[in-house]
Amino acid sequence: MCGIVGYIGPRPAAGLLIEGLKRLEYRGYDSSGIAVVNGDGLKIFKAAGKLTQLEQLLDGRLPHGTIGIGHTRWATHGAPNTPNAHPHTDQSGRIACIHNGIIENAGAIRTALKQRGHTFKSETDTEVLAHLVGEFYQGNLEEAVAMALGDVDGAYGLAFVCSDEPNVLVAARKGSPLLVGVGEGEWFVASDASPLLQYTRSVVYLDDGEMAVLTRDGYRIRNLQKARISKPVSQIEWDLATIERGGYDHFMLKEIFEQAESVENTLRGHLLEDEGTARVTGLNMTDDELKQVQRIVITACGTSWHSALIGEYMLEEMARIPVEVEYASEFRYRNPVVDERTLVIGISQSGETADTLAAIREAKHRGARTIGLVNVVGSTIAREVDGGIYLHAGPEVGVASTKAFTSQVAALALVTLRLARLRNLSILQGRQFIQALKLIPAQIQQILGRAHEVKAIADRFVHHNNALYLGRGVNFPVALEGALKLKEISYIHAEGYPAAEMKHGPIALIDENMPVVFIAPRDAVYQKILSNIEEVKARRGQVIALVNECDGQVDRLADVCFEIPETLDLLTPLLTVVPLQLFSYYVAVRRGCNVDQPRNLAKSVTVE
Ligand code: G6P
Repeated sequence: MCGIVGYIGPRPAAGLLIEGLKRLEYRGYDSSGIAVVNGDGLKIFKAAGKLTQLEQLLDGRLPHGTIGIGHTRWATHGAPNTPNAHPHTDQSGRIACIHNGIIENAGAIRTALKQRGHTFKSETDTEVLAHLVGEFYQGNLEEAVAMALGDVDGAYGLAFVCSDEPNVLVAARKGSPLLVGVGEGEWFVASDASPLLQYTRSVVYLDDGEMAVLTRDGYRIRNLQKARISKPVSQIEWDLATIERGGYDHFMLKEIFEQAESVENTLRGHLLEDEGTARVTGLNMTDDELKQVQRIVITACGTSWHSALIGEYMLEEMARIPVEVEYASEFRYRNPVVDERTLVIGISQSGETADTLAAIREAKHRGARTIGLVNVVGSTIAREVDGGIYLHAGPEVGVASTKAFTSQVAALALVTLRLARLRNLSILQGRQFIQALKLIPAQIQQILGRAHEVKAIADRFVHHNNALYLGRGVNFPVALEGALKLKEISYIHAEGYPAAEMKHGPIALIDENMPVVFIAPRDAVYQKILSNIEEVKARRGQVIALVNECDGQVDRLADVCFEIPETLDLLTPLLTVVPLQLFSYYVAVRRGCNVDQPRNLAKSVTVE
């Protein structure tokens, strides 16, 4: 997870690195640091806590120098304190290193280095690596890094500078994202493009096993064995404004409010109304190949796993293909049954989640066809799958995922429609589905226009310490997502359950202090869920109900109702999730929580 940025060029590096780290802070924010090389050697500053702590430490007195590296950390090895913050140096103090990932054999290397007289200042695996590079160093940083990496196991995105070589920055990648920014007479390395966008839009994505060597004359890409690699330069299409808050108090609120547009962007160009189907050429599969799919496995983590569950309902219902949804972290280690006739769909906002990436690699290794539903263009998952759909939701900065979720569901609807039309779904049904899909952005907008109603509900429930979310069918995953949103950003304990399962345990928790959120659109299971609401009320629970219409039945029972526009049953999650996102947001703000950067979390989880 950690954010990495490095610079070499004519500009003063320190300020540029700090600005870059601000854009990367979403990747981790428990400590940060920079290292700059100048005529006086290596200047390192680091501080525990948010980036503002580092800024306070520097107090405007930035070290001069035009080459440097910066890091924002999400702790894996060692507590989030200042000694463990990056950059770390080698034994001599000449080489500085920043790292995203985990060096798995750090313990053994540390022991061996200690026996050879090394002493360590931190508990980190990164410092061990810096020392190892120092041992190999004989006046050539590039070669020392290549040799040291030959001895380490694990995952890394790395950048190094050395006080003896003020004109070289060395970076390397294995399993953690890294790209080179190509400017005019200046070069960058970074975990993603956000820190360099104000200087250049040209980037080169590194692949695993590759190193980048940046000098004052240009950059080279090579592998650990010295072979030079030529790589294409890609252009970033979005600009800085898309990753700024634009008048909203938080990124999360901005991103919730962008959903009418982001869902529209996901659907754009994919709907073939006359034919009642979806154009999904990015899957790189012929109609014959799509018809031959016998089974689908969807794998993901976190919020993306919840959208996968919705995909399961859609695909099974409409395309009649058996679907299994797997946590990527479980799938990858449990000898999964997949073969050439299995389509494996990986869903990921970032396209970098370590477990999802590993699950996709495992599936490919076993012969499955893989497709990705990914938001970040050029990300590792997007590049490794056989085909896929980009979500085009725009950059998501808030740690709690919102617009990526609705776009994932929209993309799953596209895949479902295509597969279903190649099987039993009629052209008429296909057209109806498209008509309903096309209405969704305006319906989302309608809900957003009533955000103040959700805020009033949040104000009423802000002091509770627990909540239960219940839904049935395709809205059961929405219950999970609603509960996840609340716990992520407000630290209120919340659980999602299929409504009928409540009787098998959670009902024991219900008393007058337990708010229960029911997702109860007027779908095939509406009457059943009304009975579940009765059961909660009989035990004096407080009911918040999301319904299509306060029809006399539900408002008689519920303490609060919020109305959702009508759509096809399978598309209701695209609407029901929106007030739940808003509810969590307003509760968290009222409780004084850091909504965009909740404690202990990170946006992109690139460790197992
Ligand atoms: C982290 C984020 C979640 C996200 C999950 C999967 O836990 O905090 O919001 O859902 O990773 O991320 P991905 O980028 O693969 O969708």
